[in-house]
Amino acid sequence: MVTTVIITGASQGIGKATALLFARKGYDIVLAARQPDRLESTAVEIRNLGQKALAVPTDVRNVEQVQALVEKALDFSNNIDVLINNAGICMTGPIENTSLQDWQQIMDTNFWAYLHTTQALLTHFLQRGTGTIVNVGSMGGKIPLPYMTAYCTSKYAVTGFTDTLRLELKPKGIHVCAVQPSATRSDFMERAQFRGQDETQAQKYRQQMNNLLETQLTSQPEDVAQAIWDVVKHQKDEIIVGSASILSTVHRLFPGLTQWVMQLSSQKS
Ligand SMILES: NC(=O)c1ccc[n+]([C@@H]2O[C@H](COP(=O)([O-])OP(=O)(O)OC[C@H]3O[C@@H](n4cnc5c(N)ncnc54)[C@H](OP(=O)(O)O)[C@@H]3O)[C@@H](O)[C@H]2O)c1
Repeated sequence: MVTTVIITGASQGIGKATALLFARKGYDIVLAARQPDRLESTAVEIRNLGQKALAVPTDVRNVEQVQALVEKALDFSNNIDVLINNAGICMTGPIENTSLQDWQQIMDTNFWAYLHTTQALLTHFLQRGTGTIVNVGSMGGKIPLPYMTAYCTSKYAVTGFTDTLRLELKPKGIHVCAVQPSATRSDFMERAQFRGQDETQAQKYRQQMNNLLETQLTSQPEDVAQAIWDVVKHQKDEIIVGSASILSTVHRLFPGLTQWVMQLSSQKS
């Protein structure tokens, strides 16, 4: 029987690479993101691979829209096996230049939306006694990154949500897992937001991020998609992708050392 996966943020970047990989592996795909044209064009690529695809324009911050997404997904397929929470945005800047509205936008997209989809699909998974929830987090949910307090807070929340929910849902047949990407050459700079005391400082943070993305340390969206496939296929708890893997091990063993290095690099910024 063909199984179906719901992927949020499936129109670009990591989400799109994941949608195409799961289609190649024989899954039908329900795709969610806000901009309909891009979403539909990914759906066309999936259909060209011979799988069924349903594009549902959705703002995952909106709980009613997420409920409608899951209802449409269940009309499309009564065999939804995997939920991939992936839609996310990035924000960099000193806390004194980060407004409450900025915090709300980050937390709504990167954390609350993951809860919206999980709650909306949970009944289906519980009734079937099976299912996999993949939460795409970040190295920023494993290591504190300078001037990324709002982003790291949202991603640490995702790490806590994932690790705790796994304990609770495992006895009910539902696997909850995490994929933690390092810097990845996706389309995220299109939506990434930079704050500063003035426009010059905000642009400096943007340039630093651009410089990081040009180094050899970055992953490709396809690397993260492969890790998402691996956590689902092999029922792993977590995969840390790319350079974050070494960094998070060092941070776990020597937290004082990484804090010191991060502090030095933030003083240079
Ligand atoms: N790229 C990196 O360096 C990196 C590193 C660590 C972690 N990550 C994580 O990886 C995930 C994917 O990031 P990416 O780099 O692939 O980003 P991306 O290239 O910017 O793609 C983001 C996707 O999410 C969608 N999206 C954004 N806000 C949304 C909303 N409110 N409702 C529905 N869809 C929304 C976008 O489409 P619309 O704008 O049309 O909605 C797009 O399809 C995120 O959780 C991110 O935090 C990325």
